[in-house]
Parts: sequence; structure tokens; C-alpha cells
Amino acid sequence: MNETRRAVLDALAAGPVSGPALADRLGISRAAVWKHVDALRADGFGIESEDAGYVLTAIPEFGGAAIEYGLDAPFIVEYHEAIDSTNTRARALAGDGASDVVVLANEQTGGRGRLERAWSSPPGGVWMSLVLRPDLPPARVPLLTLAAAVAVTRAARAVGVDAAIKWPNDVLVPDESVPRGGRKLCGILTEMEGEASRVNWVIVGPGINANVDPADLGEGATSIQAEVGPVDRRSLVQDVLETFDHLRTNPDEIVPAWRELAATLGQRVRVDTPGGVVEGDAVDVTEFGALVVETPDGRTVVHAGDCDHLRPAD
Ligand code: BTN
Repeated sequence: MNETRRAVLDALAAGPVSGPALADRLGISRAAVWKHVDALRADGFGIESEDAGYVLTAIPEFGGAAIEYGLDAPFIVEYHEAIDSTNTRARALAGDGASDVVVLANEQTGGRGRLERAWSSPPGGVWMSLVLRPDLPPARVPLLTLAAAVAVTRAARAVGVDAAIKWPNDVLVPDESVPRGGRKLCGILTEMEGEASRVNWVIVGPGINANVDPADLGEGATSIQAEVGPVDRRSLVQDVLETFDHLRTNPDEIVPAWRELAATLGQRVRVDTPGGVVEGDAVDVTEFGALVVETPDGRTVVHAGDCDHLRPAD
């Protein structure tokens, strides 16, 4: 958004302000003021014309202009109306040396999930990927996924959704009557590049089913809209990014915050790991974000896998 248009918006937000007064203040012609007002209305901004002048009455809920004007994120924001995958774009940016960028899209045409699965990403969602260069040893990188799950869960709860985290990275609305322990609200795809002792970059990609119809999503999914009604996605993104930013700079807070929001702890679980199935009671997560499962053969620490909640542990 160019500086004059932003200045027009700032003035209207503090309005009412008349066209001539605005023209004087910004050192532009009255015709230019009308042009900016028209263009802003076309971008979805609500601008009323009262006796005393123009006043800003609404900022569009989402979209490039709304994000540029109304999202004050601790990241550089790259917005796309539609893109194949924000994670793929974020990987390209990371390869070019970018850091602290968030790629955000209204729709993905080739959304990617874990284990090479496709991720349904219709318009109305919050599909985003963070490009990070964390000062963490590779073993602690999974903490960033937990941090994103905490950030999304808190933001979902703040708008009234009864959200909780299923280890390691699903945000769901717990419901024991459905398979896997709940309806999925968000999944997170984390990708990284580095060496054994050094992280080059990490992409953390949460996909939040925000203002979408669950019929357009994968099986077992829900959305914020279906649970509590449509949400202001700009504020939701702001909330998620602020919490995530706080946690990444205070990594010791991540696991305690995760434990508080976890649906998995205290559940009987079955985890499909690369080394086989582990079944038992989920009792804790380690400081590296691994799940501790109490099995008939003793405690097992699971670092990665697909986790199903079977029922509350006895
Ligand atoms: C999962 O399988 O649960 C993880 C799904 C992650 C989907 C998100 S949407 C934003 C980002 N871009 C992608 O292509 N995938 C992730």
C-alpha cells in the first residue's frame, strides 16, 4: 500500500475529515482524494460520507489491502489471494535467505499435509507458513511446532472454540464420540534444512480451518465457522503471530504452555511410529516435545508419529 493511501486511511480512521481538508493536509488534489477513497472502497474498506466529511467505518476482514493496513505482525507479511502451497513458497524464500517472513493465503490449490498427504485449503481459511532461522539445536526444532499449536489453540479459544492440542501438532475440538478423539481444526506442517548440529531454516506451516464449510475439508475436520460462526481472520492471524513470537523468544515456556492445552495427556493412545505401533497411556511430553507413553512394557518416548486418542486413560 502506498504511503499516501495509508495516510488517507489513517486520517479517515481518526475522521470525520472533509475532502478539501484531507487534500490540504496531504498536499494532494481533491480529485486525488476521491480516487484514493474509491480505490479503498473497491478494496473492501467501509468509508461513509457524512456532513462533516469522510469516516472509516470498516476494515475488510481479510485480503491483501486489509493485511497490509491492519496486520501489525512481528513478521514481514507476504499475502496471496491464491497460491499452490504457502509452505512451498516459504521454502523458496528460505532458500533465497529470507527470515521472519510469514506467507499467508486465502486459498491453496496444492496444500500439503504431513506424510505427503494433500491438505484441503478452500478460500476462507488461514493458510500460512513462517520462515524462521532459529538459534536452536536441531533436536529442539519440534518445539516450534508445539509453539505454533499453542498459539493457534489460544487464538481459537479466544474466539470461543473449545480447542485443545493432540500430540504433536493437531489442534482439535475434543469429542470422544468421533474417531481419533475429536474434530480437526488445524494441522501444522513443519519442514527444515540443516546439518546434524546446525539449523539452516525452519518452515512452520499451520493450516487453520477458519471461515470454511467442513464439507469442503478432509474427513473428520471442523472449522471455526462451524463451531462458533465466522471469525475476523486478520485479528486471528495477529493473535497467533504475537503468541508464537513470544514463545519462540521464550522457548522454556513452550512445553508448560503446551501441557496446559493438551488433549492427549491422560488419554489412552495408539501412536503409529516409524518403528511400529506404541499403545498405552500418554503421561507427559519431554523438554524436546516427545510424547511419553506408559505401556505394559514400561515407559516409551515417542519422537514422531500419528497419534490416535482411544479413550481417557483408566
Ligand atoms: C497435517 O497434515 O495435519 C498438516 C497440515 C498443514 C497444512 C498447512 S496449510 C499452510 C501450510 N501450507 C501447506 O501446504 N501446508 C501447511
